[in-house]
Amino acid sequence: MINDIQSVLISEERIKEINAELGARITADYEGKNLLLVSILKGAVVFMTDIMREIKIPCVIDFMAVSSYGDQAKSTGVVKIIKDLDIDIKGYDVLIIEDILDSGRTLNYIIELLKSRNPASIKICTLLDKPAARVTPVKPDYVGTEIVNEFVVGYGLDYAEKYRNLPYIGILKREVYEK
Ligand code: IMP
Ligand code: MG
Repeated sequence: MINDIQSVLISEERIKEINAELGARITADYEGKNLLLVSILKGAVVFMTDIMREIKIPCVIDFMAVSSYGDQAKSTGVVKIIKDLDIDIKGYDVLIIEDILDSGRTLNYIIELLKSRNPASIKICTLLDKPAARVTPVKPDYVGTEIVNEFVVGYGLDYAEKYRNLPYIGILKREVYEK
């Protein structure tokens, strides 16, 4: 597994720092609000479990699963809901917890869908942002860090469902997905 990684882009230590910083900002911004963290399975699950513990105010959590990539390293533009939310989000201050904002197609679709359910507010927190890859304009409210337009894996992010268990974020060797 480690042999498929070209280089470590964001270390475990740096991820911890980023999560603490984001958690502190979210804690301050959502004081007194009705916070609902919505995580997008499966990629954002590792980030979700870490950042929720950096948020020091009451909140509820829910999950939703969509597919946009299949086994490819390129966006297809097709977003399909695999699992919807359990909670009725009406009146909640929804904060979407995402692993990576790439073309923006996935989040654009999810935002429009969730807006139609009348939440009090809806914002985006993404660990990684690849601004150079944007196709649909989506502006995240909280960004862990911007990254170069390379395919990355680890810390929840996959290629063909693998590498999610790496504790850091690494650039995948091109030969792995271009063969
Ligand atoms: P978007 O719809 O193109 O913004 O893609 C968002 C989704 O694509 C993310 O939630 C990831 O599941 C996946 N994705 C985008 N870029 C990468 C990457 O570099 N590595 C792994 N997954 C990625
Ligand atoms: Mg994925």
